[in-house]
Amino acid sequence: MQLAREPLSVEAPAAERDRHYRAVLESVWALLEDEDDHIAALSTVACELHHAFTYFDWTGFYRQVRPGLLVVGPYQGGHGCLRIEVPHGVCGKAVESARTQLVDDVNAFEGHIACSTTTRSEIVVPVVSTDRRVVAVLDVDSDQPAAFGAIDREHLETLCRELGRRFP
Ligand code: SME
Repeated sequence: MQLAREPLSVEAPAAERDRHYRAVLESVWALLEDEDDHIAALSTVACELHHAFTYFDWTGFYRQVRPGLLVVGPYQGGHGCLRIEVPHGVCGKAVESARTQLVDDVNAFEGHIACSTTTRSEIVVPVVSTDRRVVAVLDVDSDQPAAFGAIDREHLETLCRELGRRFP
């Protein structure tokens, strides 16, 4: 059961954004408490995140199905490109570096792959298994410039660490 919650605007104060993330992620983990299916878990995360923030324009996962190839997984938003060869795009860079890519202006990111003309900023967080494999990335696009900051990075990295532990 999805908790009724107003989606958070990009203009919300930092403290409110932090509180909102904590509430959303508490709800996600309650929904996934007894879940062990990867697709169900990633679908639930994409849905809950996407509908919780007005500035999330595309929210989803790319799975590294074999070394060097990302294939789209569960997502919300317009059509996302199906395959990405590492290290292309922001997603490919996140896999290659195994580090979060926080992009304030996608047009300034060399090699950005535009799945939508409305995308202005983006954050991509690697999902790393306990044996240190990058098994997926969480990709969030925004139609707002510089929409993501330290609070988004902190909470999405915490989320992806737990996803990597539970759903390698
Ligand atoms: N922008 C991503 C590609 C995925 S679409 O945004 C959903 C990238 O540059 O890797």
